[in-house]
Amino acid sequence: MLIRKPDSIPSSEITPESTYVSRRHFVRDLSIGSVGLAASSIARANTLPLDEPLTPERIITSYNNFYEFGTDKGDPVRHAHQLTTAPWKVKVSGEVAKPGEYDYEDLVKGLTPEERIYRFRCVEAWSMVVPWTGIPLKALLQRLEPTGNAKYVEFTTLLRPSEMPGQRSLFTSIDWPYVEGLRLDEAYHPLSIMVVGLYGKLLPKQNGAPWRLIVPWKYGFKSIKSIVQIRFTEKKPKNTWNILAPHEYGFYANVNPAVSHPRWSQASERRLPTTLFNQNRIPTLAFNGYGEEVASLYAGMNLRRNF
Ligand code: MTE
Repeated sequence: MLIRKPDSIPSSEITPESTYVSRRHFVRDLSIGSVGLAASSIARANTLPLDEPLTPERIITSYNNFYEFGTDKGDPVRHAHQLTTAPWKVKVSGEVAKPGEYDYEDLVKGLTPEERIYRFRCVEAWSMVVPWTGIPLKALLQRLEPTGNAKYVEFTTLLRPSEMPGQRSLFTSIDWPYVEGLRLDEAYHPLSIMVVGLYGKLLPKQNGAPWRLIVPWKYGFKSIKSIVQIRFTEKKPKNTWNILAPHEYGFYANVNPAVSHPRWSQASERRLPTTLFNQNRIPTLAFNGYGEEVASLYAGMNLRRNF
């Protein structure tokens, strides 16, 4: 992944959490799209209230990694409007009791979206605090019923070069489509969510509409966008960045300040927004600060080897 020069965003633009919380009353009655997720039904299940200011919406929706639309941080917001997200089909396959070709709406219908304010830490060493709206992944898995043989779940992003300029670029080194995976116990963890909204609105296309994964204790590349396939497997699935550079990006990708990327340290991060003169550098926390909740998933594992 590329490292870019810092943005010039005054820190005065940080939206305090209180502003957003009061704004939520305003958005509560908006219907968030064809999925039929009335915002009024969004549960106030902010499991881990964060005492950190939210990253402004403008930054979260314009400083993106979504290589299907280009490698520049500004490419996704420039190009993602071309993407058709309705209808949106999702194929469910592998070790699962209810395989099939589903309409996205049918997969999420009846599952209660929750508001979750999470830290989001990219492997490139920048970070944000994001108010997501998501469905616990666990609820979706329970609906699909993985079999006893399933040990992993693999997710695949849409392959549609006609609408995704990055996929038809002659310079791309990615073998499309983008794929990611989790161990099943990681997927069942209550912090893992399928995100459908951001700042109380439908998820913008540049952030992975209509739905994407968010696993807040892992580097951002695990949080795959615009998912069209969910496959349950016995064997560990491949993941795009590991295929591309196996010595730089692992399968687990747990945020770990003690294990450097081969080309840079992971001990600290730039909390967006930053300015030319203030990089807003803060120490990176093990498991992105969610160690109390998730460290037991990795008991006895060598996290330096399983990076
Ligand atoms: N998913 C797909 N399909 N394609 C991508 O390029 N980039 C990943 C992840 N999911 C990516 C993806 C990376 S590297 C990061 S840091 C996050 O998305 C960025 O999410 P954001 O743009 O919503 O901040």
